[in-house]
Amino acid sequence: MYTSADRMSELVEERYELLRVLSRFNIALGFGDKSIECVCREQQLDVNTFLAVVNMGESGSSPSIESVSVRELMTYLRNAHAYFLDFSLPMIRRKLSEAVLTAVENEVSRMILHYFDAYTDEVKRHMAYEEQEVFPHVEALLRGEQEDYSIEEFARQHRVSDDDYVIARITELKNILIKYYPSEGKNELLYSVLFDVFTYQRDLAMHCRLENELFIPAVRLLTGGGADCSVKDEHSAEVKDVLSARERDIIIGVVKGMTNKEIADSLFLSVHTVTTHRKNIARKLRIHSPAGLTIYAIVNKLVALGDLPDIYTGRV
Ligand SMILES: [Fe+2]
Ligand SMILES: [Fe+2]
Repeated sequence: MYTSADRMSELVEERYELLRVLSRFNIALGFGDKSIECVCREQQLDVNTFLAVVNMGESGSSPSIESVSVRELMTYLRNAHAYFLDFSLPMIRRKLSEAVLTAVENEVSRMILHYFDAYTDEVKRHMAYEEQEVFPHVEALLRGEQEDYSIEEFARQHRVSDDDYVIARITELKNILIKYYPSEGKNELLYSVLFDVFTYQRDLAMHCRLENELFIPAVRLLTGGGADCSVKDEHSAEVKDVLSARERDIIIGVVKGMTNKEIADSLFLSVHTVTTHRKNIARKLRIHSPAGLTIYAIVNKLVALGDLPDIYTGRV
């Protein structure tokens, strides 16, 4: 854990990934051997907010939400959004496109890019909602103009959407590339893009965590509520990556666009059993979405391309 007396240059030396944090707080480089407190004071940045972000996730760290500046946190979050949308995702897209299209230019490559583009659109929507809906309300709160705004709806929605989509989908893509993508040649590029996806995913997970554990509780305090920064941890135990014949049948149904009921009827099962199988498939493959399962099914030859609805192939 860092304190205000530590040198800013040491912090960067020890954890170079914190350079991104400095940049998002608009901290100018060239700070010599000055302490964190001194650099923050000179650059008119609240030192407690800076330390709360820097120490996020460090063992023994429990940020004092009361001393965090919501305004500066919002500047940080906006800058982080710009980084993800204007730099990180476009860079991954460029590399991914070069890696998969040059290596094996086929329908699977195009589906992977289509999957990535759909994912990017969702991240854009997620961040636009925060910038256009949540932040303006919080700014009004800070100006004392809107005392009745509740952050709770966003808090609820945010946990669900981050767990289900923003993080989970990029994990799926990573898993597809690592475990199931038949790469031929051009491996360096594919490895490099995977490295970037890992970095992006870690950065984004920390961003979401910051919103859940720092931003939302700090806004809650503004409105007189308790901080409530309890965190759920639901990482499950490792499971074997082997599908049963029944689970493979169910994947085929899913990628053909069938509902659980239709799959149940065609396989003479109950809907409940199909739901249980789908949960087991998601756990085993770490792929949750129909689009992700479709790529898995094609790569593993469970279905032929002609059997797929066009929404998964980007042909519409
Ligand atoms: Fe965000
Ligand atoms: Fe978010």
